[in-house]
Amino acid sequence: MIIEPKTRGFICLTAHPKGCEKNVLNQIEYIKSKPTKNGPKNVLVIGASTGFGLASRITSAYGSNASTIGVYFEKPPTEGRPASPGWYNTAAFETQAHKDGIYAKSINGDAFSHEIKAQTLNLIKEDLGKIDMLIYSLASPVRTHPDTGKRYKSVLKPIGDTFTNNTVDFHTGIVKEISIAPCTDEEIDNTVAVMGGEDWQMWIDLLKSENVLSEDFKTVAYSYIGPSLTEAVYRKGTIGRAKDHLEATAFKITDSLKAINGKGYVSVNKALVTQASSAIPVIPLYISLLYKVMKEEGIHEGCIEQIERLFNERLYDADLQLDEAGRIRVDDWEMRDDIQAKVLELWQQATTETLPDIGDLEGYKTDFFNLFGFNVEGIDYDKDVNEMVEIPGLQ
Ligand code: NAD
Ligand code: NA
Repeated sequence: MIIEPKTRGFICLTAHPKGCEKNVLNQIEYIKSKPTKNGPKNVLVIGASTGFGLASRITSAYGSNASTIGVYFEKPPTEGRPASPGWYNTAAFETQAHKDGIYAKSINGDAFSHEIKAQTLNLIKEDLGKIDMLIYSLASPVRTHPDTGKRYKSVLKPIGDTFTNNTVDFHTGIVKEISIAPCTDEEIDNTVAVMGGEDWQMWIDLLKSENVLSEDFKTVAYSYIGPSLTEAVYRKGTIGRAKDHLEATAFKITDSLKAINGKGYVSVNKALVTQASSAIPVIPLYISLLYKVMKEEGIHEGCIEQIERLFNERLYDADLQLDEAGRIRVDDWEMRDDIQAKVLELWQQATTETLPDIGDLEGYKTDFFNLFGFNVEGIDYDKDVNEMVEIPGLQ
């Protein structure tokens, strides 16, 4: 079939298998020339199909030849209806890995459930024995608690006061003011239940009790801080509370893994266009200005560049530096004073009329469509493609 982008609000309902494949192959190429010394060997990635999780899987496999098991929640294709992009990404990754003689298998289902955890545990036992790294890169709007069956929904709201600031609809380029009313206490709890650290801890507890974590095991989850501009709706809002919880969980995990000298880390990553971040108000305007400034300075990075730096200059570097709160920082370039000062200056000038010049709205849009395999260089979108792609390592 011919597959075209079909957008509705902040999501795209279609995905292009060839474009997704090209994105994955580009990331593999990038990593091949940047091996990780003493990198991971047996890696479990939760949230492995898109964004930072996919980049982590690729960096593990092609940076240090690691065997990877990926867990994700993606929609398979049906005749005439393309799959979700993470499906095509995973198919491309596993196909290439198998060609290159690299172990890669995966599980598609709800990582929050006991069932998927048990299935993953069995696969580790059968195929890998033990793992030395677990990447936790879930981004989900909902979580059904595996013990109680209660379904929690996360929200992106400020705490205490109404937040008012500018945002951009990146499809139309219209910059306008929005106001978001403060959340209820219950909404804070719900957001922490979905995006906090409880599920990460559950994974670690299970794998530890089943003795499948090797000596010197490491685990890392991803967080975000960002500028004062977005603080009220992000870091000091409901999602920030969840990230506080996630960060506190890293210390608990380290404590619980003393016997095997295991370590739990949180890495604070930079703001990037992903399916998760497109849905957060104000962030798209911030990102389009940030991209402009960082590209001008020659320090722009995507997911793969971020994770390559995380592995090679942080996690697997003998001299790992943490910030005052014990976190790994690869948002260091985004947060540089000169970069933030420029973004703030541009923010004050940003209108529907000025944004195309002072911001990188085009870069934002390109990255957004790239997430779904569209607008990818070298792909002929007029050509018929087979939407019924299989994932070779899917269990
Ligand atoms: P993403 O949407 O690209 O990836 C989410 C992954 O989670 C996908 O693989 C998806 O299949 C999987 N997933 C979602 N629900 C699932 C479920 N119930 N069971 C199994 N898998 C499920 O998101 P991302 O932007 O790469 O975010 C990953 C992490 O990085 C998040 O914690 C996010 O907060 C953090 N982060 C993001 C940014 C950013 O700007 N995008 C910046 C810093 C940190
Ligand atoms: Na991810």
